[in-house]
This record gives sequence, structure tokens and C-alpha cells, in this order.
Amino acid sequence: ANHNIAIIVGSLRDGSINRKVARSMCALHDRLDCEIVEIGDLPLYNPDLDGKDPPASWSRFRDAVRGAEGVLFVTPEYNRSMPGALKNAIDVGSRPYGKSVFAKKPAAIVTVSPGAIGGFGANHALRQCAVFLDMPVMQQPEAYLGQVAEDAFGDDGLLKDGPLKDLVAKLSAAFGDWVDLIKAGRAKLLG
Ligand code: FNR
Repeated sequence: ANHNIAIIVGSLRDGSINRKVARSMCALHDRLDCEIVEIGDLPLYNPDLDGKDPPASWSRFRDAVRGAEGVLFVTPEYNRSMPGALKNAIDVGSRPYGKSVFAKKPAAIVTVSPGAIGGFGANHALRQCAVFLDMPVMQQPEAYLGQVAEDAFGDDGLLKDGPLKDLVAKLSAAFGDWVDLIKAGRAKLLG
């Protein structure tokens, strides 16, 4: 069966290399039906706004993630951590308390950077949140994609043939297997 995957991209930039890698990951797998869930219009999380009538964009974001079978995070590193927009989206989705849309959802974390460290800091900052969010995150292969330049992508915005595309295809296959595994385990545990 196909898996419907919510992709959360940590960059708001039009030409984002993270967005392009995210789209490539989906294009390289025939069983991942992906939807990029936008985060750029989410007001900063404020519990005072989270009553009966929360901001429409919060509800839109929460519904999209709630309806997905898995979550793929693809993000740049900002100042050795995750971008504020991504952290805000996590905060929005995690509340109201007890109603987190992230809990138990299989996830993968991919960081993409033109720099040499491949977004390691952002990757692990996000993993720290995933522990508390109770998301089973794929551990291997790890995905710190460094030294990624604009010319890695073709006119269609997808990765050109080469070692990076091969690596992203491997990540994509592993994530599909991971979603299968967690789904099967959950069915067994929860009926
Ligand atoms: C960056 N960038 C960056 N890169 C990195 O590897 N480590 C870092 O800590 C930072 N810090 C940082 C802070 C801020 C505020 C910006 C705007 C950028 C560079 C970043 O990796 C680069 O701009 C990427 O191209 C961003 O990814 P997208 O937008 O192309 O997906």
C-alpha cells in the first residue's frame, strides 16, 4: 500500500535546496504519496490563542499532519540549530496538551546544507524534540547532506544523476521500509 507522508520543510525560501531534496526523495520512491505542509503562515505559538477558535492556519497544519501516516522533516541548519519557523510548527502541532498530531508517527529527519557539516546541529536539535513528541525516528541511514550546491539540481528542480541522488534514493527506500515497520508494529500493539 502507498503511504501518505506529510513533509515539513524548515526553509521558507522559494529556491530552497531543502525543498528540492524533499521533492526528490518523494520522486525517487513509488509508494510515498507526499504533501508538503506549509509552515510559513503559522502565527507564533501562543497558548492564549489556542482556545475554541484557534488561528485557521494552525488548524490547517494540524489536520494535514494528523491525516498523514508518516512525517518527513527536511530542514536547513540555522545557527547550528533548527530554523525558528520549524520549531514554531513543532510547537503548534504539539498542542493542545495531549492532542499532539506528532505522537507515534514514524518520521525521518534530513538536513541539507551548502556547508561541510551537513546540518548536524539542526538534525540533532530536531531529534531532541522528537524524543518528547514520542515520534519513532529512523536512525539509519543518517542524513546530514553537506556541500549541496544549486547545480546538484536540474531544471525540473530535482536531483541530477550522481552520488547525492543515489544517497537520497537510499534514504527514501529506508524511510518507506521504516513506515511499513512502525505501522505493522502499531497494528500489532494497538489492534
Ligand atoms: C544559515 N546557514 C547555515 N548553514 C549551516 O550549515 N549551518 C548554520 O548554522 C547556518 N546558519 C544559518 C543561519 C541563517 C539565519 C541562514 C539564513 C542561513 C546557511 C544555510 O545552510 C543556507 O542558506 C541554505 O541554503 C539554507 O537552506 P535552503 O533555504 O536553501 O533550503
